[in-house]
Parts: sequence; structure tokens; C-alpha cells
Amino acid sequence: MNLLEEIEEEIRNCRKCDLWKSRKNPVVGEGSTDAEILLIGEAPGYWEDVKGKPFVGKAGQFLNELLASIGLKRKEIYITNILKCRPPNNRNPLRCEIQACTPYLDRQIEYINPRVIITLGNFATGYILNKYGFGSEPIGKIHGKIYRADKIIIPMYHPATAVYNPRMRKTLLEDFKILVRFVKACR
Ligand code: URA
Ligand code: SF4
Repeated sequence: MNLLEEIEEEIRNCRKCDLWKSRKNPVVGEGSTDAEILLIGEAPGYWEDVKGKPFVGKAGQFLNELLASIGLKRKEIYITNILKCRPPNNRNPLRCEIQACTPYLDRQIEYINPRVIITLGNFATGYILNKYGFGSEPIGKIHGKIYRADKIIIPMYHPATAVYNPRMRKTLLEDFKILVRFVKACR
């Protein structure tokens, strides 16, 4: 069992916040364990909770389009979330839930050791910018901006905001183009 699998096992048994009570399945994350690019979303939604996999619902469909638009395959990157269990009715994560759950994310980051971290939406962006010593601002102000620390951090809008919003789709497609230069030429 590698370290990532150990983390996975811990998450399956985790009761550190109340979300374990209502989850069907935790969503640990998915992708390449030596990915150069790590995508961090917010929390599992309905279908993610049913299937135990990240971004498999409507937002996931659009995420797949975004990745395809720059020639990235899901299996080349790693995708996870701030929270590993679904909040009831997809409500926002609570501060105490983020506090309880993010040690798992921290360990995933350490193990995968990506060069680039894409944060999707306000919750992932706030947590990661803070972790790497930056002040956070609303995503509307900083989406597509490149932060350089120990990692390269690029905040983006959450793909769910674009599902019924063509203008947001365009913005996200534009922002994803920034990633092209961070994708290795030889893979
Ligand atoms: N939204 C997220 O933030 N994460 C998922 O895995 C699915 C939808
Ligand atoms: Fe544990 Fe995170 Fe699930 Fe809460 S959300 S029960 S901290 S794995």
C-alpha cells in the first residue's frame, strides 16, 4: 500500500466531522499519483457521492471539456477536493469541516508533489493561497492570476458556475489556456 492508499483508507474510516453520517461514499480523489498538475475543487456533489469519484456530474462534464480544450487527459493530472464527503444539499463547507478535512489534502499534496495547483472556486482558492502564505481575495478578482511559491498556484472559477452561464464558460476556457505553458511538451 502506498501513502496515497493509506490516506484513502483513513478517509474511508474518517469521522472527524459530521459529514460521514450523511455521505454515501467519500471521494478521495483520482488521477496520476505523480501528476504535475493538481486540481482542487470544493466538495463532492450528488453524483460524486454516489460514485465515490470526483467531478462526475454536470460540473465534471464541463471540466472534461476544459481539459480537452487544452489537450489534457484526466489520467495525466490528479483531481481532488477540499472536503472528501458531500455536504447535505451541496451547502457550502463549514469552517470546522475544512479544518477537520484539509490535513488529508495536505498529505495528498505532499505525496503527489505537483508543480502546479489549480484551485477551483472560492473555498479551494482561499485554503491554498493561505497555506502558501498569500492573502486571499474573491475569485472574481484573481481568477487566472499566477501565484509563485513553493508551487505555482492558479485560481480559477469553479466549473459549476459555468454550467448554465455561457459568459462564465468563455472565461473558464480562456483561463484554462494559461495552463498550456505548464504542460510538458513530451509526455
Ligand atoms: N464540485 C466539486 O467541487 N467537486 C466535485 O468533485 C464535484 C463537483
Ligand atoms: Fe472526515 Fe473529511 Fe469526511 Fe469530514 S469530510 S468525515 S473530515 S473525510
